[in-house]
Amino acid sequence: MKYAIETKGLTKNYGKFLAVNSLDMKIKNKSIFGFLGPNGAGKTSTIKMLTCLIKPTIGTAKVSGYDIRKEPNQVRNKIGMVPQLVSLYKDLTARENVSLCADYYGIDKNIKEDRIDELMELLDIKYAENKLVKQMSGGQKQKVSVVASLVHSPDILFLDEPTIGLDPTTKTVLWELIQELNDDGHTIVLCSHDMYEVDKLCENIGIMDKGHLVAFNTPQILKDNLMKEKENSIKSNILNVGDDKPELTVELSIMVENWLSDETIEKIKNLSFVYDLKSSHDAKGRLTVDVDKFSHREGISEVISIILKDGGVISSISTTDPSLEDVFFDLTSKGVE
Ligand SMILES: Nc1ncnc2c1ncn2[C@@H]1O[C@H](COP(=O)(O)OP(=O)(O)O)[C@@H](O)[C@H]1O
Ligand SMILES: [Mg+2]
Repeated sequence: MKYAIETKGLTKNYGKFLAVNSLDMKIKNKSIFGFLGPNGAGKTSTIKMLTCLIKPTIGTAKVSGYDIRKEPNQVRNKIGMVPQLVSLYKDLTARENVSLCADYYGIDKNIKEDRIDELMELLDIKYAENKLVKQMSGGQKQKVSVVASLVHSPDILFLDEPTIGLDPTTKTVLWELIQELNDDGHTIVLCSHDMYEVDKLCENIGIMDKGHLVAFNTPQILKDNLMKEKENSIKSNILNVGDDKPELTVELSIMVENWLSDETIEKIKNLSFVYDLKSSHDAKGRLTVDVDKFSHREGISEVISIILKDGGVISSISTTDPSLEDVFFDLTSKGVE
């Protein structure tokens, strides 16, 4: 099976409101897929249809080889879901919650307890197994929720904004876990607002806006496409506006160990492709130079060679390229609101 998920014209209306508009999308088997989009884009509605929690208005999808309309029970056995809002019984303990879930899936009594132990240890939550859910922290509840969703060894795991509101350490633990589950052969569908998270984890990304899929690609290609688009608009800007600072520059940050003379700074400022230069002269000097994206390759070398010729000792150099966040704002309505 090449694709874990294949949607065909998948559509969801709430009354007259069109929340998901004829979605055609393929998610590779055993990949981590990131689902991005502003609030209200239709991500959760899509996931609810794929996990058979709600029915599509039109269209359908195959999930792990089964049709969500015709074979919802088979689909349910192949998938696990960590919902946007944790849905555990607050007056039961962590272990009781997971155990109920195992019973729901009809897990064999002989393997059930071992399976629960194994998963709780994997997520490092076994120490809290007898705690009531209502007495747990957000991160602990999220981990229990993940354990519960994995108890029947699903092929595909859906996570709807799983790290929202978690502290950085717990986030990192969950990211590692998602990676491990994927290495183990699980397909992961990750809905998120966290660009860093999606960029770091996902092989492919779908960006949704107002019910439409507005982009689908690898994070790198999405960033490269944006770069090309901006470069084209800069080309025409430069032709039209003369020497105004272009929209897209590469920020070059250089740490210099010793003092640079005003003369050296002046030389760099006077380069035709340098648009802005800030320098802070402490014991170590940080120099931030905005270089026109077009000539950034030659530009960066030129700036560095001037510094070196004038006796500067460089200890570090870094540049910034467009981020996934730039792609997101470029493609979704959030960018213009
Ligand atoms: N049960 C519902 N009834 C009516 N409208 C809904 C319902 N669920 C979601 N919506 C609307 O559908 C749109 C998409 O929602 P949702 O799928 O939750 O988006 P996302 O997860 O991307 O934030 C939103 O405008 C939301 O208000
Ligand atoms: Mg949502």
